[in-house]
Amino acid sequence: MRLLLLSHAFNSLTQRLFVELRQRDHEVSVEFDINDAVTAEAVSLYRPDLIIAPFLKRAIPEAIWRQHTCLIVHPGIRGDRGPSALDWAVLDGEAQWGVTVLQAEAEMDAGPVWAWREFPMRDATKASLYRNEVTAAAVEAVLEAVARFTDGGYAPLRPDPGADPAIRGRLRPLVQQADRAIDWRRDDTARVLHKIRSADGFPGVRDRLCDREVFLYDAHREGGLRGEPGELIARCGDAVCRATVDGAVWIGHLRDKQAEHVFKLPATQLLAGALDALPEVTPGVTSGYRDIWYDEADEVGYLHFAFYNGAMGTAQCERLLAAYRMACDRDTRVIVLMGGPDYWSNGMHLNRIEAADSPADESWRNINAIDDLARAIIETDSHLTVAALQGNAGAGGVFLARAADEVWARNGVILNPHYKDMGNLYGSEYWTYLLPRYAGAENAERITRARLPMGVGEAQALGLVNRAFGVSPVEFVDITQRRATELAHVPAYADRLQAKRQRRAAEEAQLPLSSYRERELERMRLNFYGFDPSYHVARFNFVHKVAKSRTPLTVALHRRVGKR
Ligand code: COA
Repeated sequence: MRLLLLSHAFNSLTQRLFVELRQRDHEVSVEFDINDAVTAEAVSLYRPDLIIAPFLKRAIPEAIWRQHTCLIVHPGIRGDRGPSALDWAVLDGEAQWGVTVLQAEAEMDAGPVWAWREFPMRDATKASLYRNEVTAAAVEAVLEAVARFTDGGYAPLRPDPGADPAIRGRLRPLVQQADRAIDWRRDDTARVLHKIRSADGFPGVRDRLCDREVFLYDAHREGGLRGEPGELIARCGDAVCRATVDGAVWIGHLRDKQAEHVFKLPATQLLAGALDALPEVTPGVTSGYRDIWYDEADEVGYLHFAFYNGAMGTAQCERLLAAYRMACDRDTRVIVLMGGPDYWSNGMHLNRIEAADSPADESWRNINAIDDLARAIIETDSHLTVAALQGNAGAGGVFLARAADEVWARNGVILNPHYKDMGNLYGSEYWTYLLPRYAGAENAERITRARLPMGVGEAQALGLVNRAFGVSPVEFVDITQRRATELAHVPAYADRLQAKRQRRAAEEAQLPLSSYRERELERMRLNFYGFDPSYHVARFNFVHKVAKSRTPLTVALHRRVGKR
């Protein structure tokens, strides 16, 4: 079938549907919902059998839904309507939530239902629930709806709570800041966390800190510290700790509407200068803000790095490298690089770079810090190494993962193994060594040219991933632990380690790693310091969330000359 994905942006859910539908031999094209005329043009160019809208911020024009079946993916249970479905679900502490695929009509979200799924809610941010539970449910429901549409004869039903008491959704308004405003003198820790998580990653909860109006993100429960409710009581790494009536929370990221930089930054960076009196706390298991931690079992070391949004700044890369070296010094056999539960890595930290006095200099420092880490992983000869992708990876993050001996990925993870969308950035992380080595020269060329998201099946076929298993994050971590333990105890362990050393030595003799790096960084130097400002413009637009004015031709099949 010819499917058109009509979406506000090519966000994670749209990428996942793009991958899943193409995998099932549908022809899929994408159009960004920019205005009615552009949408109408896309529909007339493509003549889709079915239009699917995974992520829209406004209604589909009537002229289109009257002529074509349009399926809307609504991140709410049956009967739920309105623009803040998931926000309300988190704010209200719903135990069970869902996704509904319904047909577009005059009234928003009120059309007949083609498919739906429900799932138990987790104590997590809205963004994390969207990337995991909502996406998984949406994929299942969309595939079911597409199958029903293809088979024909299915009559979608309008939700009727009178006829079916299981339908408990209702029309809810847009969540306002007042709905989630924190009363630090009354709200307990659980309530504070619900409020902040309901607005993370967008729009954040408006509040005041150090006499500044800021938006709060990235909140975590503190295990031990106590203080006067509402007061800042400590700092730890990037985060500040604020007391509640029954405990305290860590706040890792902030956005200041009025300041020079109006995008999210680490809390301690945004409030720098106002925190000198705060005691610094060392992160521990139950206390402090931990973004890197290590644990060990059965001769396997697990290195976790749960960086907010998967972005890895210079200092984070340096701390991770130190932790990695420490893991290498342990008497273990396998090191598993776990990333975080939501992302493995999205490469350089573009927000920190944007906020730096010299973004070019900070880009240079950041890429060198990631390269140092990648080199340490590639050169590890004391252990077998595994990158375990619980969540998505993009740009340099994909190649950093490929630096490990094996890449294991959860089914459902999406990889974006390319840099060029960031203003033709050349990229480093030894990708010119790693990609041909694992994918072969021909595939390497195809991957960099296509600039498309890929699922784990394709990534496996192309050599970017070695093993794919598990569906839920919990299942993936369980299987990872089992397989890592097996790997540490395979009879051929010593032979494998020896073969790895020999291969690396042979490859080093052929062309030293330093040469790959020098060549990549020569091109990166031009991106950062050269005449062409494309990278700086693209980064500015990305960080400031400037909406795209047209759909990239890489995904808008219908706009490619000669395609149709
Ligand atoms: N630096 C800083 N923030 C980043 C980031 C990075 N490298 N990559 C992603 N983010 C942030 C986004 O700004 C967004 O922030 P929000 O919480 O304010 O919404 C959040 O992470 C999620 O990213 P988003 O782009 O919405 O996710 P996606 O699943 O739709 O797309 C990518 C995934 C990887 C395609 C996309 O995030 C991307 O292109 N990232 C930049 C990759 C890059 O060029 N890195 C530098 C070169 S190594």
